[in-house]
This record gives sequence, structure tokens and C-alpha cells, in this order.
Amino acid sequence: MSDAIEAHLRETRRVSPPADFVQHARITDRSLHDEADADFTGFWHRRALEQISWYHEPTQSLDDSNAPFYRWFADGTLNLTYNCLDRHVDGGGGKKIAYTWIGEPGDERVITYAELLADVERAASALKAHGVGKGDRVAIYLGMVPELPIAMLACARIGAIHSVIFGGFAANALADRIQDATCRLVITGDGAWRRGSIIPLKDIVDEAVADCPSVEHVLVVKRTEQDVAWHDHDTWWHDAMAAAEPRCAPEVMNAEDVLFMLYTSGTTAKPKGIVHTSGGYLLGAMLSHQWIFDIQGNDVFWCTADCGWVTGHTYVVYGPLANHTTSIIYEGTPEHPTWERHWEIVHKHKVSIYYTAPTAIRALIKAGEAAVEKYDVSSLRLLGTVGEPINPEAWVWYHEHVGGGRCPIVDTWWQTETGSTVLSPLPGLSTTKPGSAIGPLPGMKPVIVDEQGNEVAIGGGGYLTLQRPWPSMLRTIWGDDQRYIDTYWSQYGPTVYFTGDGARTDADGDIWLLGRVDDVINVAGHRISTTEIESSLVGHPAVAEAAATGADDPIKGEMIAAFVILRDGNEPTEELRKDLSAHVAADIGKFARPGLLLFAPDLPKTRSGKIMRRLLKNIAEGKELGDATTLRDPSILLAIKEDADRQLGR
Ligand code: WTA
Repeated sequence: MSDAIEAHLRETRRVSPPADFVQHARITDRSLHDEADADFTGFWHRRALEQISWYHEPTQSLDDSNAPFYRWFADGTLNLTYNCLDRHVDGGGGKKIAYTWIGEPGDERVITYAELLADVERAASALKAHGVGKGDRVAIYLGMVPELPIAMLACARIGAIHSVIFGGFAANALADRIQDATCRLVITGDGAWRRGSIIPLKDIVDEAVADCPSVEHVLVVKRTEQDVAWHDHDTWWHDAMAAAEPRCAPEVMNAEDVLFMLYTSGTTAKPKGIVHTSGGYLLGAMLSHQWIFDIQGNDVFWCTADCGWVTGHTYVVYGPLANHTTSIIYEGTPEHPTWERHWEIVHKHKVSIYYTAPTAIRALIKAGEAAVEKYDVSSLRLLGTVGEPINPEAWVWYHEHVGGGRCPIVDTWWQTETGSTVLSPLPGLSTTKPGSAIGPLPGMKPVIVDEQGNEVAIGGGGYLTLQRPWPSMLRTIWGDDQRYIDTYWSQYGPTVYFTGDGARTDADGDIWLLGRVDDVINVAGHRISTTEIESSLVGHPAVAEAAATGADDPIKGEMIAAFVILRDGNEPTEELRKDLSAHVAADIGKFARPGLLLFAPDLPKTRSGKIMRRLLKNIAEGKELGDATTLRDPSILLAIKEDADRQLGR
């Protein structure tokens, strides 16, 4: 679709909440926003008392005495799993389905709240029997099997801190994360199903753990059943479960005790362990899940995210469970075994709310309408997107072909750091526009500022900041308080949180996200820093210098384009190109492989020696190179451009 048509859709398409939706919706007016704007700390405190079952109710709301190290509900005590499981089971809700899990090969497991509680208690006892206690770190490296949420919750039950690492990361990346957190125990599987083949998780863990002296035990979930090497520190998950005490009382946790850490890419090569604590995070997860998705008792909610990312933490595990919701978990990717898989699941399990990433929607569009039209998806009543800006064409297709023109779409903007959604339409209240995240949830205060930190006028663009602390905000970066301050609280003043995203408002004051303004790129909804890719490439013996940049990709949103200068004595061959790509995959993970890898005799630099990334991006996107006269040697560019056009079939 041409840019002009996209622009036209963006400007003209307005969808008001359907009347029958509004009739039953949880939120249909701005009274929560108004209450929060009048007194945000009181607002959150009241919600915390209403929503969470505390052992000791907090008497404090926000403690900002040591900003930006904010604390929320600091004298309250609770346990997340009591809130997610026991209270529902004790209240007679144990028979409700917590998860319908569907395996990639087609096997299924239905898990009720009572069964989930029983599994979590046993797993928690097993962790204790392996020497794990409050405050210890546990790495979880699994595919999307039921044991993944069970393992997370088992940690939360005993106050251990989980660090889930996406199953697509390679051994080096896994080792870095385990070492940074000094994890005592790793939970993994023999393998994970991925598009019909097996990711050898156990082999990767073996390789990683060889460099991780802190790891005492590895628990191994049996899933793919191929032979795996075995070490003294290994125990099968099912053996540990069978030997474990069936009951395990929840540990009483302080609201500010750490619940989990989750690594995400920053602008340097070293990933950041984002730290979330217990009380505030739970409140953000619960309320945002209720508000955005208009959760009702009989909903079947499907967030397609992997628990290796924050979306899986908040909207597969903590939010839905705390709200006693039934969720779907699908082990595989949307294209396996065919692009019909998601629609078949929606049809069969009568999914009412479907929440996915724009990259998946674009791929589903490419697969064609026929795939969705083959199934009855009329159980859907609400659709959501997350992870990257959605282009209007994809939005309109989603609205018409999946939502049958009747389902509101919530475009939810947030980050690993924010813990829960910050900007989103409310489905019973907001008039939506294709590609706009509309505005803040109650209690949040987004402000778009210019370079100097001044708020830009309505209709203008700039940098997105958040100017009021919120309960589910990150507390720090694991082991690096200074980096926390430098990354988030230094650009525009000590109490202004900088998101790293650009944004603008339209004439109505609605917010449109414009993508990252730093060196972070977003490939198919996965956050990667260009510096990580560059440092991986220069780690290869043939590479002298490398520059990576994000470039537009019709399906993935962005792809990685990498430019490499070879060390003397190396030839720019196809074989070396493949070798470099495999090197990045082995170092970081397959999802980080460059979509375009170009050899350059010299990287285009300005006369002052700065790499011209903008120019590299233009080359990768096949755009006009513009004025390159400031280059030391403009002829380099033509050769690189020809190579790019050839590789991308232009
Ligand atoms: C981007 C994922 C536009 C953004 C929850 C942010 C989005 C980064 C949206 C965080 C959206 C997320 N519209 N951009 N609806 N949602 N982003 O930490 O650039 O994996 O900073 O968290 O994704 O990625 P993260």
C-alpha cells in the first residue's frame, strides 16, 4: 500500500466504541482518570487496597524521598501467588480453567486454578529442596510449556527472583544473563518445539552453565524427548516434582521485595536486568489487564506473547491470573504447522480477546484472508496489539478481517521498564484511530518534550517522557543503580522518566508513537541494540569494524542491516557472509541475524569521523542517498548500494 493511502487511512478512519460493547463495558467515562489526576498517590493507594489481598495492608502509597528510587506501598506485605491462585481457589473458583495449553504438535492440557495451585506448590517445594530461598535468583530458559508459568509462580511463592530468558537466545547471551544475576538454579527443558524442529535447550544450557560458577542445580523439563547429556547437577523436573512436598505455604513478601528481573537491550552491548518488585507490579498488571481488555468473568483471553518477554510476564501470567481469567497458551509460532493455526485455536476454544504483535498481523495478512475466513472467529469481541507501532493498513485489515468490523482494537504502548501498559485506548470509551495508542491509562502522565525538555504544543512531536511515578515502574537495573539514573532520569531532569521513544500528538491531543530515538531497534517486536550486533560482529576474527542500523521491513517492522569492514587478508565472499550471520546467531540468537549484511571497504563517515548511520539506513531501504558530498569518498557508497539492491532483489 502506498504511503499516501496509509496517510489517508491514518487521517480519516475513526472508530467509536460499538454501542453493544459500551453497554457492558467496565469503563465508559473518565472518572478514574479524573480521580487519579486530582490525587494520584491516593488513587493508587485506594486501588491497592481494593485489588490486592494483603497480609498487612500498606499505610503508605508513594515514597519519593529517594527519587528516582521510588517505592510504593512499602509497609505492605503480600504474596503474588496467593493473589493469583489461593484466593480464587479458597473462594470457590478452583474449577475455573486458568490455562488451556496447546502444544505445537497439537497436544493439549487444560489446567484449572486448583490444579495450577497444586503444581505451583509442588514446584515451590522442589525449589526449596534444591536449596533455593528468598532473594535467590533462578534462571528460566524454556519454550512456552505450562512449566514456564509454573516455574515463575513457584519462584514467587518462595520469594525467589525469576529471570526468564527467551528460548531463542544463544549460549553466550544466556551465560551473560545468568552470570550477571548470579543465578543459583536454572530451569530448562530437553528441548523446545519451534516450527516442527527442536531447539536443543539442554545443550545450550550445558554450554552456558560451564561458564557460570554460581549455578548449583539444573532442573530439566521433559518435552521433546531426544537424548540429552547428563551431569551431576542435573535433575529431571518430573523427578523433582514427584519427590517434593505437595504443600508449600506462600512466603510473606514485602511490597518492595524483588519479584523478578528481565533482561532487555539498552544502547550499549551489555543487556540491562530490569528489576520489578512485588506490590506495585501486581497492581499495574491487574488493573491494566482489567481496564484495557475490559475483562469479564467468561472471557477467554489469548495473549500470544512468549513468557521470555515482558508481555508474557504481565499478560500471560500475573495480570490474567490475579484477575481469575481463563487464558490460552500456544506453544508454537503462528505459521506452524500452517498460518491457519491461530484461527483454528480461536474457533475451537472460543477466544474472546486476542492480543498480538503487529509483525504477526502483517505476516497473517500476507498469508491471506482465506485462512481466517475458513474458521468461525465470531467469539472475538476485542483485539489488541503491542510491541511496535502498527501501520494503518495492518490495523484496518485486523479490524475488518479478524474483528469482523465489530471488535474494538486496543493499541497498547509500554515497555519492559514500565511493567504494564501506559498508553492505550479504553475499548468502551475511546474513539480509535489506526496507528494511535490514543492516550494514558488512569494515573499516568505522558508528556512529549523537545530537546530542552519543554512540553511541545498539541499537534507537535518530540520525545516521550513520563512525568509521574507509577506503581509498576522498574525500580533499578540489577547491580547498576548508576546506569538506572543515567539511562532513564538524566535527560530532562531527575524526576522525568525518558522512554527512548519519539511521539507526537494530533489535533485532538491523541498520541502517536514514532519508534525509538536511540540505538535500540525493534525486529519483529524483539528489542535489540545495534551496539550488541556490532560488538558481536567485531568479535569475529575476520572483522575490523562494523556498523549496524535498523531498516524498514514490510513484515518485521525493522530488520537489522549490518556493514562490515574486513581485516586485511580476508575476502568478501558469500561464504564469509554466511559465516558472519551464523556467528551473530551463535552469539546472541537467531532472531538477531542481520537481514542484510554488506561488506564495505570503508564505512561512510563524516569528515569528523562519525559513522553515517542515516546514510546506511537509506542504502538498506533503497532510498535516495541524498547529499553525500561531505563524505571522504562518495564512490564507496555506489558499490555498497549495488550490493544491497542485489541482496534484497531490488
Ligand atoms: C516499542 C514491549 C509503538 C517501543 C511491551 C517501546 C511500541 C518498546 C508499542 C518496548 C506500541 C511497544 N506502539 N511502539 N503499541 N509497544 N513499543 O521492552 O519502542 O520489549 O519502547 O516491551 O517497544 O519494548 P519491550
